[in-house]
Amino acid sequence: MQRICFVCLGNICRSPIAEGVFEHLAELAGCGAEFQVESAGVGGWHVGEAPDSRARKTAAAHGIRLDGAAQQLRARDLDRFDLLLALDTDVASDLRQMAAHGQRGKIRLLREFDPLARGDLDVPDPYYGSMQDFENVYQMIERACRGLLDSLSTGDTDGRG
Ligand code: 4NP
Repeated sequence: MQRICFVCLGNICRSPIAEGVFEHLAELAGCGAEFQVESAGVGGWHVGEAPDSRARKTAAAHGIRLDGAAQQLRARDLDRFDLLLALDTDVASDLRQMAAHGQRGKIRLLREFDPLARGDLDVPDPYYGSMQDFENVYQMIERACRGLLDSLSTGDTDGRG
């Protein structure tokens, strides 16, 4: 069992999409039982809230239902996970600051696994954006989650973005 946490700023837009997409892809690949998947935010503004309605609508258009309530990641939570996937570089640096030295190796950027990232490793924050921004974010997350699942299945987590 691999314990994975997707982490963004508010845990209402990007990381809930990543959690839903990864779980969906793992189920389709027949390996859903191998993963325990959560999402969280480094900020606490939205704790307890459902995912943003635009994130839910975008995921629903791709056949994925998002549920769950926003949670804030604390330093003490880092031990619970084998792998933490930051949705952008600011979040990754917050996580690295929060982590003890020996925990830093399990913090990665999700877009390292996006074959079309071309060195841009941020999934941009869509919170103040349009529905098209949410769709673009969804597409990046889906590509990256496919890459991540392939990497975890083959044991090769070097990344390709
Ligand atoms: P997320 O988006 O990090 O993708 O969940 C955001 C949600 C809320 C805020 C920022 C980003 N906020 O500032 O409240």
